[in-house]
Amino acid sequence: MELLKDKIVVVSGASRGIGKQIALKMAEEGALVYACSRSKADFYGDNILYHELDVTDTASCQKLYEDVLSKHGRVDVLIANAGITRDAMTRKMSEDDFDLVIDTNLKGVFRLIKLFGPLMEEQGYGSIVAMSSVVGEQGNIGQANYAASKAGLIGMCKSFAKEFARKGAQVRVNAVAPGYILTDMVKKVPEDLLKKFADRTMLKRLGEPEEVADLICFLASDKASYITGTVIDVNGGMSL
Ligand code: CAA
Repeated sequence: MELLKDKIVVVSGASRGIGKQIALKMAEEGALVYACSRSKADFYGDNILYHELDVTDTASCQKLYEDVLSKHGRVDVLIANAGITRDAMTRKMSEDDFDLVIDTNLKGVFRLIKLFGPLMEEQGYGSIVAMSSVVGEQGNIGQANYAASKAGLIGMCKSFAKEFARKGAQVRVNAVAPGYILTDMVKKVPEDLLKKFADRTMLKRLGEPEEVADLICFLASDKASYITGTVIDVNGGMSL
């Protein structure tokens, strides 16, 4: 059985990495996926449509919202995945790099959910998943900005989970906190550190984007109908 048959899904940051795998997997599971990003990749098809999106730009978020709504009249699932890093030791971190990471990873999620959350509340149902990180839970050297954005997102999503369901709508909002997953973002980390990160997991390896996408598909689906306001780790058992 297809887990997401006929669902209308919006995925931000879907040109590569975890977002791309989510888009591919959700389409495989029967959804019509709007794979949104600043620039176009090369994997689109009948069930995976490209839509331009810059989450730091309110007008761009609004345009996505209006376009999807005017075509389908509803949105079943939002995956707020877009995120960036600007790693630096705190003493060297510029305020611009702090602000850009917060504006993208935290406020970018706010901009999308400010539109799609109330829509789902009116529909009476919907599932939202936002991408946090093990770094939001445990911190990381050189990532004060990123850790703040990913930790902030957890409190923000719990607030959304309470707010959009308060009148009985079956709107679920969850966060997923991946560990170190082999994407372009993680591959930028120096090799010796990646080895340390793998050693810190119970499974002694880094993760694959597919291993996150599988969880996201489940959370987005009706199979997860009683799961809301939570954070689920996908990190191979990474301990502090
Ligand atoms: N964990 C442990 N030690 C770390 C570290 C980390 N995350 N980051 C840096 N260090 C250590 C370095 O090994 C180095 O140690 P020594 O003094 O013993 O040599 C020291 O801290 C200073 O680091 P650098 O010499 O590299 O300092 P720099 O100013 O040249 O660069 C940096 C700083 C850009 C933060 C660089 O160290 C770096 O890229 N670190 C990795 C940051 C990281 O882990 N990013 C994760 C990206 S993936 C992601 O964000 C996705 C997700 O959700 C998990």
